Amino acid sequence: MIETPVSKPDVNVLLEAFQHFEKNAKKLETAYLKMQDDFQKVNIELDAKNNFLSQILQNLTNSVVAVDSNGIITGFNQAAEKLTGHSMTDVVGLPYHQILGSDVAEEQSLLYTLTSGIHIAEQEKAIPHKDGYAVPVSFSTCLLEDGHGKLLGALEVLRDLSEVKRMQEEIQRSKTLAALGEMSAAVAHEIRNPLGAIGGFVTLLERDLENQPQQLDLVRKIIASLSSLNKIVSNLLLYTRPLALQLQQVDLADHVGQVMDFVTIGLRDNSVRFEKTFPAAPVTMNVDPEKLNQVLINLLQNAVQAITGPGVVTVSISEKIIEGREKLFLRGIRQDRIVYIDIEDTGKGIKEEDIGKLFNPFFTTRVDGNGLGLSIVKKIVELHGGEITLRSEVGKGTVFTVALPA
Ligand SMILES: Nc1ncnc2c1ncn2[C@@H]1O[C@H](COP(=O)(O)OP(=O)(O)O)[C@@H](O)[C@H]1O
Ligand SMILES: [Mg+2]
Repeated sequence: MIETPVSKPDVNVLLEAFQHFEKNAKKLETAYLKMQDDFQKVNIELDAKNNFLSQILQNLTNSVVAVDSNGIITGFNQAAEKLTGHSMTDVVGLPYHQILGSDVAEEQSLLYTLTSGIHIAEQEKAIPHKDGYAVPVSFSTCLLEDGHGKLLGALEVLRDLSEVKRMQEEIQRSKTLAALGEMSAAVAHEIRNPLGAIGGFVTLLERDLENQPQQLDLVRKIIASLSSLNKIVSNLLLYTRPLALQLQQVDLADHVGQVMDFVTIGLRDNSVRFEKTFPAAPVTMNVDPEKLNQVLINLLQNAVQAITGPGVVTVSISEKIIEGREKLFLRGIRQDRIVYIDIEDTGKGIKEEDIGKLFNPFFTTRVDGNGLGLSIVKKIVELHGGEITLRSEVGKGTVFTVALPA
């Protein structure tokens, strides 16, 4: 074996190099540990930031929809779920076009911003709800880019305008109604006097014609027509005259029951059955009993008239009392207790296009109708601080719900 002798200075150099290496390795390790530590800190910070942002996003009352550069949905917050009826898990990964693009003009789609780069600010459109109807919204769009200007996708913020639109329509409607009301009141007044005079003369004529049955028959027909004209005029005046309530404490179940009995007696045939679903305990509240009668009689008569052949009219009374921290609202006003009267019929139902006109004075689909019933009903209910709503299905029936603050 040949030994290569190592000279002393060589060993020293080696030793020195090794020590140097060890020192640097130590430094490196410390640096590495520090980096790992920093990395973890950044990660935690990032998580917190992400959490914070997604909390904000989820709790926004505005809907937010994000797509990637291919137009595939990547973000969908809770408000967007509520607005569209779709759940976030169902739509993330689907093309935007499939969910929010159908029935929407091309330049109102988020994909337009994605391809053209044009941002849209606060414009209006209607988007399709999952259940098929259109929801009016205002919307804004913008592109999403990373720090270096690379396109990541696009973002759309939507605001539900249904309530705003409904209120606009309501305001428009009440303006029209006010004008109409003034005119009808004037006309009704003008008609009432000559009508009274005609009535007087015809009654005299009736007396004179006692021995002439043929003519008497004609005169009686005139009297009958006069009486129906009178009814229309009084209804008109009732509708247009400012109503004042005379409140009284009543047991609602008792009261509604009596009105039902009254209407039952007037039924021409007995193919329509009346049913009651009333709570066992009395439901006392302050109402104007006379005016409430008008509401009930009108609604019950409409229900009966909607039924051809055998059918059922069910009247239910129920109430809602706030529990715990729950809040109850009726026409925007907070309530402690609301009483509901449902009048449900198994009649022919109401066509979708008629529902909006139902409460307008003179809207009728019946040959002998005058179209004032529901407008008076609405007026009385609203005077009580209440609200009337309905659900209807053609061929199945209709439910009118009167909600009254109690
Ligand atoms: N329960 C109901 N079922 C079906 N249609 C109804 C019902 N109630 C009201 N309607 C519709 O609303 C219209 C207006 O009702 P109303 O104001 O009471 O006037 P009228 O009874 O004189 O027609 C009716 O002509 C009818 O078309
Ligand atoms: Mg009617």
